[in-house]
Amino acid sequence: MSAAPSGSNPSKTRDSDAQPITDKAPVPDQSAAADKPAQSARGARPALPLAEATAPTPRARTATGPPGGAAKPAARTETRVPARVVVAIQGVTKSYPNGRVALRGVDLTIPEGDFVFLVGPSGAGKSTVIKLLIRDELPTKGAVLLDDRDVAKLKRSEVPKIRRKIGIVFQDFKLLPNKSVRDNVAFALEVIGTPRREIAPAVDRALRVVGLTGQADQLPSQLSGGEQQRTAIARALVHNPRLFIADEPTGNLDPLISWEIIQLLLRINEMGVTVLMATHNAEVVTAVRKRVVALEDGRIVRDQVAAAYEREG
Ligand SMILES: Nc1ncnc2c1ncn2[C@@H]1O[C@H](COP(=O)(O)OP(=O)(O)OP(=O)(O)O)[C@@H](O)[C@H]1O
Ligand SMILES: [Mg+2]
Repeated sequence: MSAAPSGSNPSKTRDSDAQPITDKAPVPDQSAAADKPAQSARGARPALPLAEATAPTPRARTATGPPGGAAKPAARTETRVPARVVVAIQGVTKSYPNGRVALRGVDLTIPEGDFVFLVGPSGAGKSTVIKLLIRDELPTKGAVLLDDRDVAKLKRSEVPKIRRKIGIVFQDFKLLPNKSVRDNVAFALEVIGTPRREIAPAVDRALRVVGLTGQADQLPSQLSGGEQQRTAIARALVHNPRLFIADEPTGNLDPLISWEIIQLLLRINEMGVTVLMATHNAEVVTAVRKRVVALEDGRIVRDQVAAAYEREG
């Protein structure tokens, strides 16, 4: 494969028109603003219907085989609706303007409710996958679909709406230093014009999920690294996203705190949110035994359920 850009987007490989998602938390659908990440069993409306949130994925069925293994038609009670696909990356190649090819023919499907670790050496293309998903970059070839919408083909006016389906956290937290924990989280709702009366309860719920209720009035500089990342997670969750993306969220944290952050992401996943986490943290990946997608030099070299960080055996 040529290392030169293939040229289908020669001057527009970066989506410079769109608002930078890295500076602000992605913003929710107005209709979803009152929905709550913290809300689970007792809320008026769960983030996702329980049946959808717990529906076995096609991958899971493949891994375990069909129930009973019988040739006769499945009983009525076993009829299940396949999980919806949240992310579909189809034949994607990404060449940066300097000629660097970051992704080469990548195909990746993530069904609703999945928890996916994206692993691979530095420079393998993990963050590039994430940038394509949030439309921070555009693919050179192929398509990136979020809930069946090709993100590269969205009209400008549609970009904020699709980004509201995503919550994202980074290694370096990206908190606003002069705002309290509460105000950092609230800001994600304010920027999209969420009615004032809906903001405080939604923020409280998000802070409860991450366990920061007691620190709500502190500034980021008054928090530990783990608490700062929890704040960023609350901010990413407050608009009730469908897809939660974490790009090396434990990169600045010690092992114990990293583990707590992973437990939090697992809880968020249990609430029905699909999670994609790029990481180098082999211990965590191996311990958690979730789906692992490994990239090397821009190609997917492994995609396994309940896997270790590195191929075993
Ligand atoms: N804006 C850019 N312009 C040019 N090349 C880039 C750009 N961003 C990334 N790259 C290159 O694309 C390749 C993939 O980078 P990417 O950031 O996706 O890797 P990564 O797997 O996230 O690495 P890390 O684990 O170090 O974060 C690398 O060779 C990198 O140098
Ligand atoms: Mg990266």
